[in-house]
Amino acid sequence: MPVLSLGYLRLNVESAERWNPFVRDFIGMMPVDGPLPDSLHYRMDHYPPRLVVTESAVPGLDAVGFEVLNRSDLKDLVSRVESAGIETRAGTAEECALRQVTGFAAFDDPSGNRVELFYGPVLSHRRVELPHLSGFVTGDQGMGHVILNCVDTEATYEFYVGVLGFAERNSLALPGGTSYFLGCNARQHTLGLNPAAGPALLHFMVETVDLDDMGKALDRAHDLEVPMMQSLGKHTNDRMLSFYTYSPDGHATEIGCGERIEDAAPTYRITEGAVWGHRYTPPPAGAKGLPQ
Ligand SMILES: [Fe+2]
Repeated sequence: MPVLSLGYLRLNVESAERWNPFVRDFIGMMPVDGPLPDSLHYRMDHYPPRLVVTESAVPGLDAVGFEVLNRSDLKDLVSRVESAGIETRAGTAEECALRQVTGFAAFDDPSGNRVELFYGPVLSHRRVELPHLSGFVTGDQGMGHVILNCVDTEATYEFYVGVLGFAERNSLALPGGTSYFLGCNARQHTLGLNPAAGPALLHFMVETVDLDDMGKALDRAHDLEVPMMQSLGKHTNDRMLSFYTYSPDGHATEIGCGERIEDAAPTYRITEGAVWGHRYTPPPAGAKGLPQ
């Protein structure tokens, strides 16, 4: 069975101090103590922290965690990855404890982005406290979606579709190549591949349960002076209402609501990103732009 969903995101960042207000106060995730004393851990639901932020002299993507069904599926997928000529490494017991998972394997995709396939999340039975919103859409749709920069988009596409079992949902022709939107569950896309120098996390998205939750996040962005990147708009592929801000490290951070559930439609090519809105604002002077 292919990958189930986006499980977690681990980021190395320039300044952890700037991330706490961004994630806790703006996005609205729940800060919790975690096994890494110098890292910030945020819960979205009953899963282990889905976002882990660590200050580092070398900022960038630490790992994208994709959930798989169980030990047997992990073993099958690891052998497929190895057969594709990519070296994998099994997570040690200590590393599993840090991630609060039962098992995982790590490897780099063909563009050098670090991937971890994991199974058996260690669940929290203490209710998640989200004072700013009624909830995030997670469950079998996972944490949301990510877009990764890819030095070789075609080889990376072949890997995620041919080896890990993602489905191509749609594509978009860009001046530097083709951007692909790939799905593995009811989300229209869980993973996007962007043709650009990398490896790097270009973008991540989380979805709120209620439209008012997303609207209130827009208010908080204004109140907290979080730099806006794209105004409120509606995407042409996932039909989601959303807006984008810049993270403290320049990632395009999208908060959306009302993603259209994919119904195994044939793949298609879009020619615009938005039906309306999503007007772009460059990063403010002194702030980081998007990692390229
Ligand atoms: Fe997005």
